[in-house]
Formats: sequence, C-alpha cells, structure tokens
Amino acid sequence: MFNTSYIEISRKAYMNNIKYLKKIIGKDVIFSSVVKGNAYGHGVENVVPLAEEAGIQHFSVFSAKEANDVLKVMSPGNQIMIMGLLDDAEIEWAITNDIEFFVFDMGRFEKAIETARMLRKKAIIHIEVETGFNRTGFMYEQVPELVDFMKRESDHFVFQGLCTHYAGAESLANYLRIKNQITLFRKFSRYFTRHGLHPTLRHTACSAAALTYPNTIMDMVRFGISQYGFWPSPETHMFRFRRDTKETNPLRRMLSWKSKVMVVKTVEPGEFVGYGSSFLANKKLKIAIIPVGYANGFSRALSNTGRVLIKGRRVPVIGTVTMNTMTVNVTDIPNVERGDEVVIIGKQKRLSISISSFCEMSDQLNYQLLTRLPGDIPRFIAK
Ligand SMILES: Cc1ncc(COP(=O)(O)O)c(C=O)c1O
Repeated sequence: MFNTSYIEISRKAYMNNIKYLKKIIGKDVIFSSVVKGNAYGHGVENVVPLAEEAGIQHFSVFSAKEANDVLKVMSPGNQIMIMGLLDDAEIEWAITNDIEFFVFDMGRFEKAIETARMLRKKAIIHIEVETGFNRTGFMYEQVPELVDFMKRESDHFVFQGLCTHYAGAESLANYLRIKNQITLFRKFSRYFTRHGLHPTLRHTACSAAALTYPNTIMDMVRFGISQYGFWPSPETHMFRFRRDTKETNPLRRMLSWKSKVMVVKTVEPGEFVGYGSSFLANKKLKIAIIPVGYANGFSRALSNTGRVLIKGRRVPVIGTVTMNTMTVNVTDIPNVERGDEVVIIGKQKRLSISISSFCEMSDQLNYQLLTRLPGDIPRFIAK
C-alpha cells in the first residue's frame, strides 16, 4: 500500500552467504558486517537482525548518522565501528555510546583524547594507516609523532585496531599495488609493536581481499558486498570458482525487487511509445505500464534496453524510462492483467534477472546500483 514497488530480502540466501564467508576466514577471525549505504540498499533494519541471527556481533559504517541507524536496531553489547566521517560533536556521542571509530589524523585524535578526558571515558579507536589508497590514514613519516602521542595519552583510549583499506583488491591489474600495501601495513604494524603498542585487532580486508589474498585476513574482516551475495568483480568470482570447484556460485543474491502491472493497453502500428520518438510500433502491440521509473532507482539508461519478468517471461522495456514509469512490450504474452507481478531483479518461474545483467545494461557497478535503491521502497524479509 502506498508504494509502487517492494524489495524482498531472503534470509536463506543471507545465512548461506555468511556460512560460506565464515568458512573462508575461520572461526577465530571476527566477521564485521559492513552495513553502510543502508546495508548496500538492503535496509539496515533488515540486515542487522539477520546478521545477529547468524552470530555476527560487529558492524561497520561510514558515518555517525549510519552508526545511529544501526544502534536503533542492534542488540545491546554488540559493536559498531565508524570508518569515515565524524565531526567534533559526534566524537562525544560516539565515546558516550561505546562506538568505535577510525582515527586517521592528529586533529581527530587530539579531539578524541580531549573529549575522552572531559567525559572520563576511554575512546575506542582504530588507527588507520595510509598504505597506498591515498584516501585517509596516517603516513609512515607521521608514526613517530603518533606513537609518542599514544604513549602520553594511553589512559584515555583503547587501541582497539590497526587498519588500512586496499585500493582495488578485486582486480588483478592492481596486484602489485595491493602487494605493496600489504608489505607497508606490516612495516607499520612492526613499528607499533617495537614501541610497545599492541592493537587488539589488525584488520585490512574487505570482501575482495579476504577472498583472494588470504594473508590479508588477520584478526577481523570487514565484509560488505559479498555478504549480500555479490562478487566484488568477475575476477574474484573466477578466482574462487577455481578453488571451490564443487559449486559454481556459492554466494546467493538476497535481494529481489518487484512491482505490479499498472495498465495494459494496445498501440496501433505507426504510433510512438513514450516521450519523443525513440520507439516506433511497427505492428499492433500490447504494452504494460509499470509504476517504476528513474525516481525509483530504475535507471533512464535502461530506456529501450532493460528487461523485466512478467508471467515467467522476459519482456523488453520500450521507449524512454520516465520519472515514475516504464513501459514494456507484452504482445506475445497471453492474459497479462493489471496487478500481475513484475520482477525487476530476481526470479520468476524459471527465469531470473541478475543484478550483474542489470548493471551491465545500465553501466553501473553493483555497489552503485544497490546503494542507490531508494530508502522508501518497502523491504520485507522472505522466510
Ligand atoms: C574501509 C572499508 N572497509 C570495507 C569495505 C567493504 O568493502 P566490500 O563491500 O568490497 O566488501 C569498504 C567498502 O567500501 C570500506 O570502505
């Protein structure tokens, strides 16, 4: 009610993915579920309880806003880690709520210590080091100053983690860059250890790193895309495919996106369909209007190229995708009616539309498509 499409989340698929990924990292390594970007479009309120059901107790987000979203649905005692944005006022909020956060420059560290002192409560921090991504993180040259500061202020923080992020572990083209990052991370790590500073956890791996560079797994893995059933890239899939020969794809997509037929009508030969003249009917057609357009996350790039499933058949999008609707050609499908289920992503009878095919057609990364799915599409967990 009040919505033109909905998203179904599969508990079974999620449990399958977590089982597979946990097997790869082993039982002694912490599984951090990366739920930024509204849990990669799946809905934080759906994914956090499912993750907890699967035994996950650690969640990674980008910002304080996202951490607050997780906090609202998470069980007490579990941990949240902010990897990105945190302004001065939010640092106080984070320390008060035992939320862990990355520290990647002296300014943030000094502010965290000042706040911890004021609150009389330790900040739980992860020192992020710059190993080659060139985004956030302390440079190797800054470490002596950092280490002195940490020794001086050791009463006001918990050295929970030492971490970095790889610059494209999903592509073989970056092999040398990743190898250099791993080497530099080890050098950072030795420096801290030599100076008596021992982080509780060393963590560097995202999905692609954990799946293809086993020595990046360390004490914790920050799993994003793969827990949702997607490979970070075809290369990562091929790499695992050769190793896990029993199954062609051990990951299962957990998201399906569905809508309903809004209108069915006929179009006479010689008529154009939709805005402008991009589609000309060359014979009498039966068309169906679907109430999902680019305002709902269905890219305009899919005009005249997209596909959806109706009555178990694949049907093409014709004409331009508009703000709120798309039109599909159902001429060859008998008995299509208003209210019939439309699958935009997912399975219907024996056919399926995968996110990757959808991404290829609209020239988007799976990460991009998922996180752009509007937050107001209702999401349900299918049993
Ligand atoms: C710092 C950090 N760690 C982990 C991840 C998760 O990456 P993935 O979704 O490829 O597993 C991300 C995602 O962008 C990230 O920025």
